[in-house]
Amino acid sequence: MVISINDPLDMHLHLRDETMLDIVAPLSAETFSGALVMPNLVPPVTTKEALLSYRERVLKAAGSSRFEPYMTLFFRSDYTPEFLESVKDEILAVKLYPAGITTNSEGGVSGFDLLELAPVLNAMSDLGIPLCVHGETGGFVMDREAEFIPIYEKLARNFPDLKIVMEHITTKDAVEALKRFENLYATITLHHLFITLDDVAGGLLQPHLFCKPIAKRPEDRMALLDAALSADSKVMFGSDSAPHPREAKEAPGCAAGVFTAPIALQALAQLFDNHGALESLQAFVSDNAKSIYGINPPEKEVVLEKSPYLVPEIYEATVVPMFAGQSLEWRVVSAG
Ligand code: NCD
Ligand code: ZN
Repeated sequence: MVISINDPLDMHLHLRDETMLDIVAPLSAETFSGALVMPNLVPPVTTKEALLSYRERVLKAAGSSRFEPYMTLFFRSDYTPEFLESVKDEILAVKLYPAGITTNSEGGVSGFDLLELAPVLNAMSDLGIPLCVHGETGGFVMDREAEFIPIYEKLARNFPDLKIVMEHITTKDAVEALKRFENLYATITLHHLFITLDDVAGGLLQPHLFCKPIAKRPEDRMALLDAALSADSKVMFGSDSAPHPREAKEAPGCAAGVFTAPIALQALAQLFDNHGALESLQAFVSDNAKSIYGINPPEKEVVLEKSPYLVPEIYEATVVPMFAGQSLEWRVVSAG
């Protein structure tokens, strides 16, 4: 069996910088038409200059494949409307991180005082710049996303014209919140469609499956699957592929992040096929994102075939992907 996907989009991607960027950017550019590039570098992307030069580095690293890096700016409550106006054509969204909640988020927001955030959020709303949010509180790790839902609701209610994307949702609660507000959307990762906390810590600890938000319960995974497999128009694929060097993962103090970009389309084809939902894949990996963000990525047709694909153990002796050394049921035949 063969399928083709047009213009696949990864609407939440960590490409990093320097050596890691050079390793991972070509892998995404090979099979994706475009991606929303996260700004959590060290230091984070907060100026026009940093934004433009990061975009150049990404394009250079991506190589010859046609690939659109949709850039993001790291949210800061002291941005002025003039500054946002001056960068609006260079970005697709602004990404808000609670301070210290995940990799390189130390400069994020503390306290979620709407009065403090309002000037920037109003300016974004006026300029039509979507807000992407890492929605976790500092509470008990399994409850962080559910505890954040009231904050999403407050944001959605107080800024009705602002498009708000709940990034990498992992819970039934988040899927339900999506239904209550017209201006809430969400990304879903590959790994949260495949695994629960049991896969991370139920047996021997699996550092390559450790990420933020942590994988949750079976009923949460089912709710995410329902949304993705039914082609719910408010959800889109965002891999949250987050590469770390092997020694940072296989270590005491394991870094959070699962590296999925190079195997994402193959694994998604397998998942949707196994659930008899291959006809929903195009919406989930491209069409929904195009209409939510109003984008027209470069044309790319990716042909996948149902035949075994052995996932590499490691890329460039540096970064270990999800399903390393395992066989997937679908492989990419061509992309271009
Ligand atoms: C991401 C990273 O490593 O940058 N890590 C992760 O576990 N997902 C950051 C993030 O999106 O939380
Ligand atoms: Zn992320």
